[in-house]
Amino acid sequence: MTVGRSAATAALLQIDAIVQRLSGRAALSEVCRFLEASFPHFGWVGVYRLDGRELALEAYAGPAATEHTRIPLERGLCGRAARDGVTVIVDDVRSSPEYLACFLSTRSEIVVPVRADGRVVGEIDIDSDRVAGFDATDRKLLEEVAARLSPAVVASGAKPPA
Ligand code: SME
Repeated sequence: MTVGRSAATAALLQIDAIVQRLSGRAALSEVCRFLEASFPHFGWVGVYRLDGRELALEAYAGPAATEHTRIPLERGLCGRAARDGVTVIVDDVRSSPEYLACFLSTRSEIVVPVRADGRVVGEIDIDSDRVAGFDATDRKLLEEVAARLSPAVVASGAKPPA
């Protein structure tokens, strides 16, 4: 779905305010809640931090918990985004062999790395019930969100692989 430029600008102002007011996990939880409530095509919004060679779920907002609270870097769309340090968009998870299923209703997914000092320290992971739910406007918005979340992900105890 397309995120309009004024909606993106307004969302980034809200997120700036959240990360000024809160830090660490509290900031990440609030940003997850804000994103999930603000964009109808964001069905489940989570933030993982790196813990060595695994990703650990630090915060999420959505209708249900995921069983994937720890994901080895070798696995899943989440692992690929963290390993390669690039945003991953999958239009239909049913045709992705590396997809780790969380929710039966999920059709598309975007995973956006969070960096600190040039290294990946975590990522934003969003599931949508719509096929091809995410486009370049989602990517642009979420890459800007990821930059703003960097201090909170570091403060939550992210440890990149040695
Ligand atoms: N689908 C992800 C796993 C995390 S859940 O979407 C919450 C993956 O393939 O890595």
